[in-house]
Amino acid sequence: MNVVVLRETQAGEARVALMPESVKKLIALKAAVHIERGAGLNAARTDADYQEAGAEVSSDREALLANADVLAVVNRPREEDFAQLKRGAIVVGFLRPLDEPNALLPAIDRGITTFSVELIPRITRAQAMDALSSMATVAGYKAVLIGAAHIPRMFPLLMTAAGTVPPARVLVLGAGVAGLQAIATARRLGAVVEGYDVRAAAGEQVKSLGATFLEVDLGGIKTEDAGGYAVELSDEAMDRGRALIAEHAKSADVIITTAQVPGRRAPLLVTEAAVDGMKRGSIIIDLAGATGGNCALSQADTTIDRDGVTIVAPTNLPATVPVHASQLYSRNITAFLSLLIKDGQLQLDMNDDVVGPSCVTHDGQVVNQRVAASLSATANK
Ligand code: NAI
Repeated sequence: MNVVVLRETQAGEARVALMPESVKKLIALKAAVHIERGAGLNAARTDADYQEAGAEVSSDREALLANADVLAVVNRPREEDFAQLKRGAIVVGFLRPLDEPNALLPAIDRGITTFSVELIPRITRAQAMDALSSMATVAGYKAVLIGAAHIPRMFPLLMTAAGTVPPARVLVLGAGVAGLQAIATARRLGAVVEGYDVRAAAGEQVKSLGATFLEVDLGGIKTEDAGGYAVELSDEAMDRGRALIAEHAKSADVIITTAQVPGRRAPLLVTEAAVDGMKRGSIIIDLAGATGGNCALSQADTTIDRDGVTIVAPTNLPATVPVHASQLYSRNITAFLSLLIKDGQLQLDMNDDVVGPSCVTHDGQVVNQRVAASLSATANK
């Protein structure tokens, strides 16, 4: 049973799906692991590191694909890569099945079984496989460093012989995994931090990290679903939130936005007028750029200057911290694969409460209902 890892081909991608430490774990499950030459170099892992861990290293990409029983990826394989896999091969990774369902059509045609880490349910049993949380942690951390490096001030309060330096002010919108990590990182650097979220539970978490929680009176409406995710709010509720944010944006040096509603466009939280009210030299780091952005002026992977206020919306910050991002991701993937590999054989139990829900395509069919619905919606356009 061959587990294969290729060099990632997406521009700017520096992560690798499996690190050598995970190779050892898979070999203990009696799988054979094959790595494309140079796959780990950007994550500071050499071919020799992989060989030492027990993997075979090869530069024959076509043969690697043709012999793969499992292809572990960070990003969705290209169409031509799907075309070279054998029928029934398994692909596991960030496949973006809800954002770009059509890109999985080659997997349906070829009878490839795809598992999307975005769909792994966030139940206790699957915590070790939660790649969304791992990558959000890295992104939240890195966003603060971008902010700290950009602003023309220091983060901490300093009392010096030349007088007092006031601390920077950081506003974090959306206090999920990325937002909480951003708050914790900004606090460690000494900034005064405010956090905002529509979920009531987030308030306690924000405060426990030493930040102030901005509360908006939403009149007791339902803000989260049974799974603990935020729901889309009415225009009136959103306007109240936006007004509060605009007020606090005036004094912020750094705003980090992370708000998402699964399966929807990111909520608009920072209006143009709010940006215009900000100080020169301040920065907005919008982590929701891939789903439309939380700031009205954000453009994915583009730096915008609005009268001295900078707005960036980097869509792949985890790739800028490739060692730790790969390490966490590799552990997530290995934990997931250990559900599929039993004694060196693949055993797919679609009734398993983690395996079934994370499967997108199997045996030439789309098996995930949400993905099937969005595919037929795009087909009818
Ligand atoms: P996410 O990436 O979907 O959203 C980020 C944050 O944006 C969330 O906190 C959400 O409430 C907030 N948000 C959405 N709309 C907003 C609006 N209009 N204004 C302000 N904030 C808004 O969420 P993430 O980070 O993936 O986690 C969401 C939830 O899942 C959290 O409750 C988290 O604690 C929970 N979770 C549970 C896990 C587990 O039990 N294994 C693992 C990871 C997360």
